[in-house]
Amino acid sequence: MKRMLTGLQPTGEITLGNYIGAIRQMVEYQEKYDSFIFVADMHAITIEQDPAELKKNIRNLLAIYLACGIDKDKNTIFLQSENVYHANLSWMLECLTPYGELTRMTQFKDKSQKHKSFSSGLLTYPVLMASDILIYDTDLVPVGQDQKQHVELARNIADRVNKKYNKELFTMPDALIGTNSKKIMDLIDPTHKMSKSSENKNGVIFLLDSDEDIRKKIMRATTDSDMSIKFDPDNKPGISNLINIYSALSNLSVSEVEEKFKDSNYGTFKASVAELVIDTLRPIKEKYEMYQNSSKIDEILDNGLNVTSKIAREKYELLKQTMGLTR
Ligand code: TYM
Repeated sequence: MKRMLTGLQPTGEITLGNYIGAIRQMVEYQEKYDSFIFVADMHAITIEQDPAELKKNIRNLLAIYLACGIDKDKNTIFLQSENVYHANLSWMLECLTPYGELTRMTQFKDKSQKHKSFSSGLLTYPVLMASDILIYDTDLVPVGQDQKQHVELARNIADRVNKKYNKELFTMPDALIGTNSKKIMDLIDPTHKMSKSSENKNGVIFLLDSDEDIRKKIMRATTDSDMSIKFDPDNKPGISNLINIYSALSNLSVSEVEEKFKDSNYGTFKASVAELVIDTLRPIKEKYEMYQNSSKIDEILDNGLNVTSKIAREKYELLKQTMGLTR
């Protein structure tokens, strides 16, 4: 059975973009693959975090996973920082990764331009991600489009290290981007991806938003003056984003959505998008409350640490020996 691994950062509330781009695929694939799901808390500290908030967000993300249908019996669920081999392996891989390869990463370029000063972790972040993936001989990494470049980097690192030491040290991972996985854009500025860290929260739908907030945010989404419900991301990014959201959640293709709403005006279309989002998120919100304060989360993480630390330790020791880090 192929092994699949993926994770999200616990950096605030989870967005509709995370759900459509990642979590939904995770739920689908748990049936097919040996599935490892984690909370990428070490990645979260590449930008400044309030410790109490971070702690809360870690638990909230685990409750979201469970509420979205990630099944503890079909997945190994764990917390990245508890398994110390990830960061240890990452250091070795950093020393085998040219600096230029990291400065060329799109996400690094974007984020480093946004902040006046930033941590070195922001630069080495994709190597830690490679370590998360390679330490388990992962075959498949379900991610949204925005993380594809980082999975490519993990492949480059695996290939380079295997060749350097002339050994099959690491399995080559593949990014798994579902056919219905879309990059969801900000509702106010649809030229940027919907992101937890957006300054204007009206552009972002959070999974736990009230029905009223969801309705308001979608009804106020930026569109254009053309009035036709046509998919054209370059000229009509707002409407195209709403079409993508509708398509992803209804499992209709983009052209089926265009056809369905060909005689509707923007107001009617937006109201339909809002109702579909509300109906999709309602059961998740209900289950979330139940899991949030449950001791189940601790049991799940204890088990996850137990399973993953054995596998991770072996791979870490293998590279350590290979590189000559022994007495
Ligand atoms: P993160 O937390 O930024 O995002 C989690 C997942 O959600 C997807 N995503 C989106 N998809 C569609 N539209 C959007 N607007 C949108 N925003 C986010 C992301 O592509 C991602 O799949 N580095 C990763 C976490 C990570 C990881 C890993 C993932 C750390 N190590 C190893 C896979 C394997 C991250 O920051 O994701």
